[in-house]
Amino acid sequence: MALKLHLGGCFPAGGPSKEDFLSAAPRAAVVRDEHLADVPFWQRLGGRTDLLELCQNRSNQIRQEEFDTFVVLGIGGSALGNSALIESLSPFGQEWAPTPDRPRIIVLDTIDPDWLKGFLDSVSIERCHFNVISKSGGTIETAAQFLLFYDAVKRAFDSDDAARARFTLTTDPKAGHLRSVAQECGFETLPIPAEVGGRFSVLTPVGLLMAEVAGLDTESLLAGASKTANSLEACKPESDAALAWALAHVLHLEAGRPIHVHFPYGHHLRSLADWYLQLWAESLGKREDVKGDEVFVGPTPTRAVGPTDQHSQCQLYVEGPDDKVHTFVRVGEPSWSGNIPSAFVEGIPAFEALKGRTLGELMEAERRGTEAALRAAGRPCAVLELCKLDAFHVGQYIMFCEIATAYAGGLMRVNPYNQPGVEAGKVAALALMGVEGYQEHLGEISAVLAEDENMSFSC
Ligand code: PA5
Repeated sequence: MALKLHLGGCFPAGGPSKEDFLSAAPRAAVVRDEHLADVPFWQRLGGRTDLLELCQNRSNQIRQEEFDTFVVLGIGGSALGNSALIESLSPFGQEWAPTPDRPRIIVLDTIDPDWLKGFLDSVSIERCHFNVISKSGGTIETAAQFLLFYDAVKRAFDSDDAARARFTLTTDPKAGHLRSVAQECGFETLPIPAEVGGRFSVLTPVGLLMAEVAGLDTESLLAGASKTANSLEACKPESDAALAWALAHVLHLEAGRPIHVHFPYGHHLRSLADWYLQLWAESLGKREDVKGDEVFVGPTPTRAVGPTDQHSQCQLYVEGPDDKVHTFVRVGEPSWSGNIPSAFVEGIPAFEALKGRTLGELMEAERRGTEAALRAAGRPCAVLELCKLDAFHVGQYIMFCEIATAYAGGLMRVNPYNQPGVEAGKVAALALMGVEGYQEHLGEISAVLAEDENMSFSC
């Protein structure tokens, strides 16, 4: 039961070498010491069984209702972790069929009217439970979703009381508009600890209520997170896998490889990779360093899923510009080997090669083949290995990525916990919607968005 990291293919000729990596160890150790001197709250979330108990209690209440669909309303860090958990740990991702024991889970991280209309047309609204998630309580997309669906549920039941019972609000314990609405109108709530920011919050009630309702193994999820946090804290700096992974990426970034390809081999890992992409991008892409100097730094994380994207992205990765670092995520033991039956006429090479083999073997051969092609082309590759795809190892992966992100922020000397660029977009949207208090930004926003009439085309 472990998460393993292999960096043997990460330092080909033409970029930072293994020696550069080893000689940067003191720089990395300083960052780690700074981090451990003030361990962030989220790093201890694996041990917060009190938060889990709150979610278990609320989940038990919700399960008394007649419902078949649990809907997460939120965006960014208030939604991506939910998609990641349900897609990695349920049998068939978000498409699994509901049963009397397990509702369907839908994460609606959008305000796209066409998509939401499709949702409304596809579900029985009176058989849904909605979990509105917003740490700040002021995110306009989540507010719009909340208003829309509250109205729909209220009309379905013709009752405010019945509608309220179909909602759980997950937000800051004290601050924000969502908390005020909950207090004034009597909605059930769950807390997101004040110390935990959106993209680091999946192991709080943000992800745990949905996981409980879906029947996922939340205790193992938290145990996996704890195991990784504890073993990284207890080990020597030179054995710290998250530090090594962060350092390798930062050295490549500094040497002109800013594109970080996260390459899981497994369809269940697609949304987990999307969650990681937000974590890495929003935490590390910064205009200013911690001293306030303009630096405009940050890696560009991207996702490919094997073997599907071998037939889509790999040509670029193997032969295109040498500006990328690749991390394969592999699952050691698939839950089903998938014996491939023999059929059709003998002697056809594509079919002969599969005789007596399993899907698991084929998947790993494809992954290793892709790694070999990249490494032969001198492209850096790391391998992150989950022994199995289960709640424990997903918990390990989540904590590993969070700690590595914090370390990478330290190595880059940026604050991984703020997101001024996201806030700027939120302010602009509020101003454009005419929200009181934001009009002063309108002049500046209109100037930025001004179009040159001669630069529009149609066909
Ligand atoms: O990581 C973050 O802080 C952001 O991605 C937020 O999660 C996102 O903007 C949603 O914010 P909130 O949870 O306050 O609605």
